[in-house]
Amino acid sequence: MIILVTGGAGFIGSNFVIEWLSKNKGSVINLDKLTYAGNMHNLDSIKENSEHIFVHGDIGDIELVTQLLEKYKPTYIVNFAAESHVDRSIHGPEDFIQTNIVSTFHFLESVRFYWDSLKAKEKDIFRLLHVSTDEVYGSLEPNEDAFTESYCYKPNSPYSASKASADHLVRAYNKTYGLPTLVTNCSNNYGPYQFPEKLIPLVIYNALENKDIPIYGDGQQIRDWLYVNDHCNAICYVLESGKIGNVYNIGGLNEKTNKNVIDAICSMLDKLRPKEDGQSYKSQIKYIKDRAGHDKRYAIDASKIKHDLAWFPIETFDSGMKKTVQWYLENQNWVKSVASGEYLEWVKKHY
Ligand code: NAD
Ligand code: DAU
Repeated sequence: MIILVTGGAGFIGSNFVIEWLSKNKGSVINLDKLTYAGNMHNLDSIKENSEHIFVHGDIGDIELVTQLLEKYKPTYIVNFAAESHVDRSIHGPEDFIQTNIVSTFHFLESVRFYWDSLKAKEKDIFRLLHVSTDEVYGSLEPNEDAFTESYCYKPNSPYSASKASADHLVRAYNKTYGLPTLVTNCSNNYGPYQFPEKLIPLVIYNALENKDIPIYGDGQQIRDWLYVNDHCNAICYVLESGKIGNVYNIGGLNEKTNKNVIDAICSMLDKLRPKEDGQSYKSQIKYIKDRAGHDKRYAIDASKIKHDLAWFPIETFDSGMKKTVQWYLENQNWVKSVASGEYLEWVKKHY
């Protein structure tokens, strides 16, 4: 069994590749463009594993992708590759349109031609799983029901609009060409190897560096947090048992306001690494200008994946967050290696 994973040097992709190799036999072809968000150090633990074949390249490069597909003949493809940061999409949407829409379209074309060339038996077992986000559904009011798979698409940021476009293309390739696709729409992930531009690693990093901990607006926006390994696990369930052409929502059943999340991280750090001045890390919190078009609330109704595939998250918010804080404390070298160069430019521009 050979699997092609795209974006496998990023946060979720690297966690997925590491977990997949620990549980399955056969090679993982990892295609990643190594943008600022891709980091080979995420893959250090599998450096010596000959089943991990890393390829530096763009999912939109039809020639390269075609060569890879012909050479390795993967049975499964999981597409994580994307520009993924909402704030960056507000500052500069171009890369998001290019990768999340145009390159995804080119990738679908390459995969379609490959799939068409397969023998009937190979065609039957082949699957392309496209990883998407709950943000395509837009924003919920506090009293509204959580997003189901049939909720209409109402993306509000250039990032979510570009992910929504990709989802539509994937759907079209299934309906029009019969390509065996699956789509997962997941809520906010957290865990090891997350780039410190996203809320949770940013809070841990800034707290330990004695910097301001920035909260946008009133900090009352709600996200549904899921530990990254639970997400990776859910993807495996969908890959193995999901119904072709279907969409599966994945969520953590952990709705929290941003302020609650930040307070929880500060309290954990107060216990694990008390500040030298005896104060709480909460003293570093600073309310700043809100994000443009900031979605108020996301919440996932994960009943379909629970009932149809018997998947449910293992980590609670507390257990997952403890693991995460501990990981960042124990991997300060990793943090220092990513929090340099391009990252510092971003922080200067944005905050
Ligand atoms: P990330 O930004 O950490 O990683 C993205 C990876 O894709 C990087 O390694 C990058 O180098 C690579 N990449 C970017 N453009 C590429 C291209 N054109 N060709 C090949 N590789 C390319 O993102 P993440 O947080 O790991 O998210 C992975 C996927 O999951 C994305 O599709 C994202 O939309 C989706 N998602 C993320 C979350 C979350 O909370 N992080 C939640 C739901 C869904
Ligand atoms: O919901 C899934 C999505 O979650 C994924 O599709 C995206 O790829 C991923 O980046 C994430 O998007 P968010 O915008 O929700 O994540 P982010 O970590 O950027 O922000 C989480 C919340 O915290 C959001 O309400 C904005 C707020 N925030 C963020 C930062 C970086 C702050 O208050 N201060 C900050 O400095």
